[in-house]
Amino acid sequence: MTRTLWSVSDLHVTWPANRERIERLRPADPGDWLIVAGDVAERIDVVVDTLARLRRRFARVIWTPGNHELFARSTDRFKGRERYLRLVELLREVGVDTPEDDFPVFGGVTVVPLFTLYDYSFRPPGTSVAEALLRAREARAMLDDELLIAPYVDIPTWCAERVAYSRERLAALGGPTLLVNHWPLVVEPTLRMAKQEMALWCGTTATRNFTTDHHAIGAIHGHLHMPEEIRVDGVPHFDVSLGYPFEQERMPRRAWPLPALQIL
Ligand SMILES: [Fe+2]
Repeated sequence: MTRTLWSVSDLHVTWPANRERIERLRPADPGDWLIVAGDVAERIDVVVDTLARLRRRFARVIWTPGNHELFARSTDRFKGRERYLRLVELLREVGVDTPEDDFPVFGGVTVVPLFTLYDYSFRPPGTSVAEALLRAREARAMLDDELLIAPYVDIPTWCAERVAYSRERLAALGGPTLLVNHWPLVVEPTLRMAKQEMALWCGTTATRNFTTDHHAIGAIHGHLHMPEEIRVDGVPHFDVSLGYPFEQERMPRRAWPLPALQIL
């Protein structure tokens, strides 16, 4: 009997075609686990309902938030940090693992859901944050994050706090790890983006050594909607995005969901 740890991200179930696809997602074995690396949906109730349904099928579901889970309108009750904490609270109630819980171990590998955001450090050398943001605006390459997250929390400060928190928790681990984050932990995957200006919202240089410092056998991410494997410092980084339906036709054909680990 083989047990598999499957990995997905960027489910964007607000799109009916994606919702139907996730409804059909089933484990190959009742003991299979599932990683969901963010961007399930924008509404809290939809995120929780989707993950609760997956949890009824998979033995364990490990979630970390994407930028879309953090999107809020001024009229929403939960915004910024409170929104994240509310999601953690509700997902724990339905038995989903979050970045605030003890890290689960699959076949001797510690699975580490991270939540490290971005701090505009993925920008051209010699450019200030203000200049880089201006260039992105001029290139019409701004992410909605500037309208739907940034008004409610200082993202670079939150990012620095999350990096420090993650470092501390990673330092307490021994043995091999599989790191999971919505945003790539290294800049290389973003270099394939058509609009380079968008990399500002795609991670932080502060996580560059996470894989090499903490015995990572691999890193799982989403956000870019460019499913591929890139090796950096000898460690494979997998973009496991499902992405929007209109993008899927032009994505390279590959196995989805990704079987990240297997126990024979
Ligand atoms: Fe996404």
